[in-house]
Amino acid sequence: MGYFMKGWCLVSFVALIGYLYRDTFDPEKLANARVLVTGASTGIGEEMAYHYARAGSRLVITARREDALLKVKAKCLELGAKSVSLALADMASSDAREKVMEQAITALGGLDYLVLNHIGSTPFQMWEGDVNHIRWLMEVNFLSYVHLATIALPHLTESKGSIIVLSSLTGKVATPFTTSYGATKFALDGFFWSLRHELAMKNVPVSITLCILGLVDTKSAMEKVKDKISFPAYPAQDAALAVVSAGTSRVHEMYYPWYVRPICFFRDWFPQNRDWMIQRSYQQTSHEKQGVPA
Ligand SMILES: NC(=O)c1ccc[n+]([C@@H]2O[C@H](COP(=O)([O-])OP(=O)(O)OC[C@H]3O[C@@H](n4cnc5c(N)ncnc54)[C@H](OP(=O)(O)O)[C@@H]3O)[C@@H](O)[C@H]2O)c1
Repeated sequence: MGYFMKGWCLVSFVALIGYLYRDTFDPEKLANARVLVTGASTGIGEEMAYHYARAGSRLVITARREDALLKVKAKCLELGAKSVSLALADMASSDAREKVMEQAITALGGLDYLVLNHIGSTPFQMWEGDVNHIRWLMEVNFLSYVHLATIALPHLTESKGSIIVLSSLTGKVATPFTTSYGATKFALDGFFWSLRHELAMKNVPVSITLCILGLVDTKSAMEKVKDKISFPAYPAQDAALAVVSAGTSRVHEMYYPWYVRPICFFRDWFPQNRDWMIQRSYQQTSHEKQGVPA
C-alpha cells in the first residue's frame, strides 16, 4: 500500500473514532429534568448538582449532613435550578432509602435521572480482616444502589429515564489498599451490566450509564491517597460534567479522565507487567511493610 493510501486509512480511522466518541451533550435536554442526586453534599455529587442546576433542572439532593446540603441548595438556586429539595438519609438504612424515593417522587412528580453517587468512608490501607466493615460498606456502596434503582425503576420506565452509576477504575482493575471499596465497585459493574441486558431484552426504555473514574481531586479522596500514591488527580468539576453529559447522552459506559479507557482496554493483555507496575505505584507505610496493623 502506498503512503497516500496508508495516510488516507489513518485519517479515516481517526475521523471514525472522533465521530463515534463525539460529544453529543445538549444541556437543553436537562431543562426541567427531574433529577435525584445522592451524596450531593460535597465532592463530585455537589459538582453534579451545580451542572444540573445551570441547565435548569429540578433537583432532589440527598446525603446525611443538612448544613452542607443547605449550602449546595442555595448555590443551585443561584445557578438556575427550577427547584431544589433536600432529603436527609443514611444510605445504610433500607427505610431511609425508601423515604428518600418517596420524598423525591412527591417533590418532582416523577423522575427522569437517578444519579447514584454516595459512598461510605473506608480506609485506604491493606486488608486487616474487618469483615463487619466490608459488610457495612457493601450495604452503603452497593446494596443501596440496587435498592434505589429497583424502587425508582417504575418511575424511570414511565419517563423513559436514566440511571447513572458512579463507579471507579478500581471496579475494573484491582489495586492495593482498596479491597473493600474495590469489591463494592466490581459488584456494581456486575449488577448494572446484567440489569442493562435484562431491560433491553424486555424493551424497558431505561438507560444505565456506568461511570468509570480515575483519581479525582475531592477532599476525601485526596486525604486518603496522600503519601501513598502519586498519580495526578483531575478536577471534580470536570469529572462531574463528564458524568452528567454521558448520562444525558445515554451512553453505556463513560471513562474519565483520558487514561481510564486505554487502561480498561489493555487490562488483560500483559497481566504480569500490569501487576508489577500496580504494586510499584503504591507506597506502603512502615507498619504495613513490617506486617504490623497501622
Ligand atoms: N474522588 C475520586 O477520586 C473518585 C475516583 C473514582 C470514583 N469515584 C466515585 O465518585 C463518587 C463520588 O466520590 P467523591 O470523591 O465525590 O466522594 P466524597 O467527596 O467522599 O462524597 C461522598 C458523598 O456521600 C455522602 N455519604 C457518605 N456516607 C453516606 C451515607 N452513609 N449515607 C448517605 N450519604 C453518604 C457524603 O455526604 P454526607 O457525609 O453528608 O452524608 C458525600 O456527599 C463515588 O461513587 C466514588 O466511588 C471517586
